[in-house]
Amino acid sequence: MSISPELQRALLAAAHEAAAASYSPYSNFPVGAALYLGDDAPLVLGCNVENASFSMTLCAERTAIVKAVSDGHRANMRAIAIVATKTRPCFPCGACLQVMREFAPEILLIFEDAQGDPVVHALSEMLPFSFSNQDLPQ
Ligand code: THU
Repeated sequence: MSISPELQRALLAAAHEAAAASYSPYSNFPVGAALYLGDDAPLVLGCNVENASFSMTLCAERTAIVKAVSDGHRANMRAIAIVATKTRPCFPCGACLQVMREFAPEILLIFEDAQGDPVVHALSEMLPFSFSNQDLPQ
C-alpha cells in the first residue's frame, strides 16, 4: 500500500492541527499525530498529554492509536503522520513504535523533513527486529 503525495501533505497538515491541542506545559514540546484509516473513515487525531507526574505522559501517537482502537478501528491503521512544532523530523519513541507494532505492523509513518516536505518510512524500517504476539507461547 502506498500513500499519494497529496495525502501525505494532508496528513501532515492534520497532524499540525492535532498539535494545537497538545497539553505539554512541562516540556513545551507540542506534538501532533494524524492516523489514516482509509478513505471511508475519518482521520483520528492525537496530541501529547503530559502530567505533573512526568512518567504518566502520553505521546501523540499513542493517543491517536488508543482513540482508534477504542472506536473499533484497530484493523485499519494504514498510515500515521507525526509532527512536532519545534523540530523536524520528529520520530516516535520506542514505546509508540511498539504500540504501532501491536495493531499495524504494515503501517507507514509520515514525517516532515528539514524543509517541511513529507518523508515516509515503513514501521518495519523503524523497528526492524520486534517483539509481537507471534513470540508468545501458543
Ligand atoms: N512526544 C510525543 O508525543 N511523540 C514523539 O514522537 C516524541 C515525544 C512528546 C512526549 C512529551 O510530551 C514531549 O513530546 C517531550 O518528550
